[in-house]
Amino acid sequence: MAQPGDFRARRVAGRPVILVRSDDGQVRVLLNTCTHRGALVCRTQSGNARSFQCAYHAWTFNSRGELVGVPGEDAYSLSFDRKDFALAQPRVDSYRGFVFVNFTPEGESLSDYLAGAKEFLDLVCDQSEVGMEVVPGAQLYSMRANWKLLVENSFDGYHGLPTHQRYFQFLVETGGLDMTERLPGRALALGNGHAVIEYEPPWGRLVAQWNPVFGETKKAEIETVYAKLEAKFGAEWARRVSRTSRNLLIFPNLIINDLMAVTIRTFFPVSPDYMEVSAWALEPQDESAEDRAIRLDNFLTFLGPGGFATPDDVEMLESCQKGFANREVMWSDISRGMNRAEPVPTDELQMRAFWRRWHDLLTLRPTKAEAQRAA
Ligand code: FES
Ligand code: FE
Repeated sequence: MAQPGDFRARRVAGRPVILVRSDDGQVRVLLNTCTHRGALVCRTQSGNARSFQCAYHAWTFNSRGELVGVPGEDAYSLSFDRKDFALAQPRVDSYRGFVFVNFTPEGESLSDYLAGAKEFLDLVCDQSEVGMEVVPGAQLYSMRANWKLLVENSFDGYHGLPTHQRYFQFLVETGGLDMTERLPGRALALGNGHAVIEYEPPWGRLVAQWNPVFGETKKAEIETVYAKLEAKFGAEWARRVSRTSRNLLIFPNLIINDLMAVTIRTFFPVSPDYMEVSAWALEPQDESAEDRAIRLDNFLTFLGPGGFATPDDVEMLESCQKGFANREVMWSDISRGMNRAEPVPTDELQMRAFWRRWHDLLTLRPTKAEAQRAA
């Protein structure tokens, strides 16, 4: 998305939109609905375009969404004004390069909305001096389960060992993992339904925690990276960037899993018991070809839809969905860790944070910030 005209077509909340870098350099989100009679003006997933021409009657819009071409325009009355027919643009804001849209014309700012989640986006983005980038290509898959089950699963430290036993065994056998260690860390609610688990992982991180799977030659390089991070950010932030992993939920359906590699995952319901999932790899822009290969291998082999972990998770979530057919079992239990002052990643505080916000929205209860604004 670096060049003017670079675009991605996406569906957000079921709505088709175009994310485009306009000719003035600004990133815009245009509603992908022709202002003539509604057809999609962009029908390819990604590319570079100076303009978008609707295939139906060939109205043409530039990269700022302005209507610039109407075949047979003289058939319209004098009151016809191209300016009235620009592609609509929802509210857009970004944080550390993550672009968010909001379909309501007013309301809280993105910064207020993200609340405590910003700190954890910072930890993800500070892995690279020059910035992170989404690697072209996506993992697209679906499962027969309610989308909220994937929210729970995406930061569920409790299921790791039993569900992914085979994969962890494989890592122990190949020397990459020491499963005698527990998972020291914490679970935090970040406001507005966002939540995270942050922990010292048993796996390595190219930024900057060495592990035998990286090979002896990487040891010195990783130490240099660590020293640089320490000089720039101080010991505590450098430790968290390098030596902790995090599974972050931006409420309601954006997951950032900063494990050995970083995966961005989002998912939307098609029906109450069926969801579609998209996942992308987020990597340092300046990483070596060798590091990129290691990270992409992890992206594929662990969280990929045909990898070691995701098929296990899909199996379990579809299993839950099947189990829900017995309505006599009315509730899932997510009370784990309520007896602890500081819940850990194998507890369920993070899920409670999600469900409390979900409950507030369904019952129209305002957040603290909303209540203050209304007062
Ligand atoms: Fe797009 Fe007619 S619907 S030009
Ligand atoms: Fe899992």
